[in-house]
Amino acid sequence: MEMDQGIPDSLLDVLCGYASNLHTKFLSFPTDLSLDRVQVFLVDKILLNRHFSSYPASAQYNKLFWKHDGHYFTTLAYTELIRKDVELDSRIYEHYVSFVSTASSSEGFGAKPPSPSYITYFWLNGSQYEHSTLMESRKLIEEGTTGFTTWPASMVLADYLTSHSDLVSGKSVLELGSGIGLLGIVVATLQVRSQLSSRLCLTDVRPDVLDRCQNNLTLPCNISSSHPALSCLLLDWTDAFDKLTNQGTSDIMSGLDHDLIIGADIVFDPVIIPALVATLSLALQNKENTSALLALTVRNAATIAEFLSTARKGFIVEEIERDNQRIGRMYMHALQDTAFVSLTSVHLGHSHRLGEYNAVVA
Ligand SMILES: C[S@@+](CC[C@H](N)C(=O)[O-])C[C@H]1O[C@@H](n2cnc3c(N)ncnc32)[C@H](O)[C@@H]1O
Repeated sequence: MEMDQGIPDSLLDVLCGYASNLHTKFLSFPTDLSLDRVQVFLVDKILLNRHFSSYPASAQYNKLFWKHDGHYFTTLAYTELIRKDVELDSRIYEHYVSFVSTASSSEGFGAKPPSPSYITYFWLNGSQYEHSTLMESRKLIEEGTTGFTTWPASMVLADYLTSHSDLVSGKSVLELGSGIGLLGIVVATLQVRSQLSSRLCLTDVRPDVLDRCQNNLTLPCNISSSHPALSCLLLDWTDAFDKLTNQGTSDIMSGLDHDLIIGADIVFDPVIIPALVATLSLALQNKENTSALLALTVRNAATIAEFLSTARKGFIVEEIERDNQRIGRMYMHALQDTAFVSLTSVHLGHSHRLGEYNAVVA
């Protein structure tokens, strides 16, 4: 999907919001543009957009979006439309009617959890927009795991890496707890674009989450699908405790010979802290120039504090400063969903500072 450079920011926000299934309460339709201009945009860039035909949002989201749009045209602007003699584009009207007639009222947004659907995130790579599409759950927990949805911490870390692409380009990168792969797709895109020989290994404890991750990485619309050295492997942090099973973990790590470890939102429960720190120790041991860069959502400050104090026993922990100017459009979710506002990045490394928490092996 090509991003039209001339598109006004207010319409770009609507496009990116629609693509990422942002709730319409966070979307504002531009009042500074003519109704004709807005209608042409809705039809050309959303309704007839081939990307959204191939990778559609859920029926529930479409109903919500077009209903909101219908609301805009039928109420807010109604008098304007009459006064200025502007007609509602019949394609928008027919589209809305088709959703109303096919989706029952019980499937309305918020009535029951929406089904998994494609979500497309836009993000800035230099001055160019990239987009990454994932099939993801619209529930926070599905099948007993948080791994089927994308968490804001991965957007924060992805955003950081887009402005520090030298950390991943031409490098071997290992991700822990990758979930369905947004961060991995962004890293893979940066690596492919750099044209440097790079490797990337995404890991998770759940085979079903990894399958979804692999499918997302190889969607033809994602640049990651052309990455020549990408793998998705099972890796359970609790294996790091066991001499028998930690051999598998060590084999993955020595096979990859990683330069950087990344992880987003992987400290969510105090119970997993010892296993995660043991895994990080295996990954960082005997590695002079390897570091781990972690973005952690702070749901419970005590859990993050416990992780940091455990990590400090084996690593030097330093804060990484984020460059907030670089926030890309996919970050709209993280900015606007107050449930995810507290974010902390952790970097465990050896010799170079990266910036919010920066930890170096002691
Ligand atoms: C909150 S989700 C974060 C997913 C992804 N990093 C993101 O930010 O969107 C936590 C992830 O950690 C994985 N995980 C949980 N326990 C694990 C373990 N013992 N070993 C490896 N991964 C684990 C889960 O399967 C899930 O994908």
